[in-house]
Amino acid sequence: MTSCTQHQQGLVDRFGRRVKYVRLSVTDRCDFRCVYCMSEKMTFLPREQVLSLEEIGRVASVFAGLGVEKIRLTGGEPLVRRDVMQLVDYLGTLGLKDFTMTTNGSQLPRYAKALKAAGMHRLNISLDSLDAEKFHRITRKGQLQQVIDGIDAAQQAGFDQIKVNAVIMRGRNEDEVLDLVDFVRQRQIDISFIEEMPLGDVSDHGREETFCSSDEVKAMIEQRYRLEAINQQTGGPSRYFSMQDSRSKIGFISPHSHNFCGDCNRVRVTAEGRLLLCLGNEHSVDLRPILRAHPTDNKPLKQAIVDAMDLKPERHHFTTDGDVQIVRFMNMTGG
Ligand code: 5AD
Ligand code: SF4
Repeated sequence: MTSCTQHQQGLVDRFGRRVKYVRLSVTDRCDFRCVYCMSEKMTFLPREQVLSLEEIGRVASVFAGLGVEKIRLTGGEPLVRRDVMQLVDYLGTLGLKDFTMTTNGSQLPRYAKALKAAGMHRLNISLDSLDAEKFHRITRKGQLQQVIDGIDAAQQAGFDQIKVNAVIMRGRNEDEVLDLVDFVRQRQIDISFIEEMPLGDVSDHGREETFCSSDEVKAMIEQRYRLEAINQQTGGPSRYFSMQDSRSKIGFISPHSHNFCGDCNRVRVTAEGRLLLCLGNEHSVDLRPILRAHPTDNKPLKQAIVDAMDLKPERHHFTTDGDVQIVRFMNMTGG
């Protein structure tokens, strides 16, 4: 296949799925230590193993050249990376249809305006509790007020969409589902409830004890509000609903169901430059040596990315029986 037809066809895997969405982790570090994401004492990557901002920019531009229309920056916490705005400013020039970030919100009071000015369209902000003490217990380090201020700053900056992400765990914050819904309704922003995924051995709790399914969360909300399904193909594990009397949308992200694998449109790149073809599988290609062996030539990088599509597996294999199947922590893969 010539590179010209590759460009026309973009990135297509063995199952005919077109990859249009890339999630780039810009750092494995974070100012929080959420119980479902990290252990209390984490060792982070040595700096030389992490891609430079310029290398991440090269990866992004090659993906954009291969037809990728949507890029999400993730972490760890992307906004704790020094000079991250250099990368954000560059990605803002790539003409993406959808440019977004997943953040814990703690640095948004400082960065929200600049992110919007750089051309970022949307933000996902993690918020698992509206109770300062509980919030601190779940994040181990976070201050609730700082994140609320971050959400305020994001709303003032005028993003196209702001969505709160909440991981619901039995015995920790399942009692806050309706409060979180009312919080986003008051602000006319959106929310997604996320099932906890068995990534990394977090040693804080057994996953089978805390697992709370999307169906359970949905039933709690339906005690107060009628939810109407929105027909929206996301190519991911999320389903969206609307309420009659509000602009806020409610999403349920259920990574344990694998019925979305069939139209999966996404891949991930870790902070170290490992291209992951599926969140629930180890299939990956290390882009870092290619980037570093060819610092001024993007062709080998492009070829490696095109070739990697053949490794994308058909589906993932999560279960909730408490076994850790994927040894990566979430902060390595960027959610
Ligand atoms: N399961 C589900 N969601 C997770 N996140 C982090 N770790 C996990 C996990 N084990 C989510 C957080 C945050 C985003 C960065 O990833 O809720 O919104
Ligand atoms: Fe940090 Fe997000 Fe992981 Fe929490 S979930 S420790 S905020 S990366």
